[in-house]
Amino acid sequence: MRRAIYPGSFDPVTNGHMDIIERASKIFDEVVVAVAVNISKSPMFLIEDRLFMLQEASKNLPNVRVDSFDGLLVRYAEEQGASAIVKGLRALSDFEFEFEMALMNRRLDTDIETVFMMTSVEYSYLSSSMIKEVSSFGGSVEGLVPEIVLDYLSQKASSTRRIMQKRRQKKE
Ligand code: PNS
Repeated sequence: MRRAIYPGSFDPVTNGHMDIIERASKIFDEVVVAVAVNISKSPMFLIEDRLFMLQEASKNLPNVRVDSFDGLLVRYAEEQGASAIVKGLRALSDFEFEFEMALMNRRLDTDIETVFMMTSVEYSYLSSSMIKEVSSFGGSVEGLVPEIVLDYLSQKASSTRRIMQKRRQKKE
């Protein structure tokens, strides 16, 4: 059983992530998409929501499982009996940091290999932060994220609008 971990914040999952998940699921017997719980960035979505969006988006991929993890990634990979960590590379700018993380992870566990996959060209500029920014200013991100993420983003946008409206009314 060749099991791989695909870790990330997934705040929220994009079609760029989905592209890597789908391609990794063809190479490995099982891919565990692992959502980091304690990330230093303050996420827009709760861990439960990030997990649910990923579960919905990957429900047609039978050898993909979605889970969360806390602490060191290699320790989680060991617990899961995984032999590889999958990472997506979008551009040269991703490389330096990913390279450092891969070397540190290998130092922590020499048996776990980091496998880099190049993102498809159409998603090479895409990031979760860009999605959040465009969507928060009312821009369309259709075709760039799974359908379920569109629903979550529009929910966020309408609750933000409601809050701002209330604040304006209070000031008046
Ligand atoms: O989607 P992101 O935010 O780029 O994902 C980063 C993530 C969660 C993969 C990375 O921060 C991570 O592996 N965190 C777990 C803590 C850890 O093991 N750190 C040492 C790696 S060098």
